[in-house]
Amino acid sequence: MATLYAKKGEPLSAEDIPKTGTIAGAGSDTADAVHRRDTSSIVGRSVVTLDDLSTIQIRELLRKAQYIDSHRAQVAGTCSGRVLATLFYEPSTRTRLSFETAMLRLGGQVIGFAGAQLSSVSKGESIHDTLKTVSNYVDVVAIRHPKEGAALVAAQSADVPVINAGDGGHMHPTQTLADLATLQSRFGRITDLTVGICGDLTFGRTVHSLIETLCRFGNVRFVLISPDELRTPQYVLDRIQSSPSCSYTEESDLAAVIGDLDVLYMTRVQKERFFNEDDYLRLRDTYILNADKLRLAKPDMAVLHPLPRVNEIATEVDDDPRAAYFEQVKNGMLVRMALESSVVGDELAGFEPADAKEVFA
Ligand code: CP
Repeated sequence: MATLYAKKGEPLSAEDIPKTGTIAGAGSDTADAVHRRDTSSIVGRSVVTLDDLSTIQIRELLRKAQYIDSHRAQVAGTCSGRVLATLFYEPSTRTRLSFETAMLRLGGQVIGFAGAQLSSVSKGESIHDTLKTVSNYVDVVAIRHPKEGAALVAAQSADVPVINAGDGGHMHPTQTLADLATLQSRFGRITDLTVGICGDLTFGRTVHSLIETLCRFGNVRFVLISPDELRTPQYVLDRIQSSPSCSYTEESDLAAVIGDLDVLYMTRVQKERFFNEDDYLRLRDTYILNADKLRLAKPDMAVLHPLPRVNEIATEVDDDPRAAYFEQVKNGMLVRMALESSVVGDELAGFEPADAKEVFA
């Protein structure tokens, strides 16, 4: 494999990382531990990865998101009196604005910053102290940070639930909830699918979150399409290998495999994680999905992309019924409404919690 001059988010310093902390891929929970997790309530819970939730809880959040979509007026006061803080140390359009819109649409309020230069972080304040402080003001925090593990540190420092809105190249759990909601609405299921994932599989945190979560639901065949230098990290491949009903192949030619796919999840090459601009420029346009390539795909394949896109999906694809990426955007807001109301413990008016066995079926 060629040498890649890219910077994965620099690790946090030893003092920053609590002794009990786990980061997926750096000593994450075993599948057994995940399944032993409490399945009854997520009130007060932080969500650093979706491994913090049981599969039952994830399915219930998807049900809540669907319910919210069809009962907008009924749920509009659910979080009245609540305050969300969005602490974004890295740029964002969809995630920050949808976290904020979600709380506003539930009747709550929002504070926060978009860019650490406007906060006391620029004076050297630690994540720990920032979270200890903000915990006094709000009921729930959403944090995005360029360093892997930052959300875990935040969760362990805060006295209120913390939701990871993306930490470096590690995880992006609420994007995964949006992805699952989109698969559920397109196919009526999130299992028994052939899922192609294409582009930057090394640094794309949405990819890592999605693969790890789909493995827990099972029966997914992954087709991992990337240039040699941007292949899926070993810890993510190990997760697929340890899931008996899942499998993967690694490919480099999108046109050769697109006809086999139920889902094509396109990703952007993550410019911000490269050291060397030349490497980025050489790799960024490796895959461009256009109308010609889409002709080789199944008529009901779904094209997903976490966005933002650069060149990897031509705009001519947007009008194709297979394009599902703006549905993902809408689902992103709905799942964040479901998650925010759940972790603060506010019930959605009229929503009937599913019987645990029924949700699991
Ligand atoms: N999908 C996503 O995380 O988009 P933003 O970076 O705009 O939040």
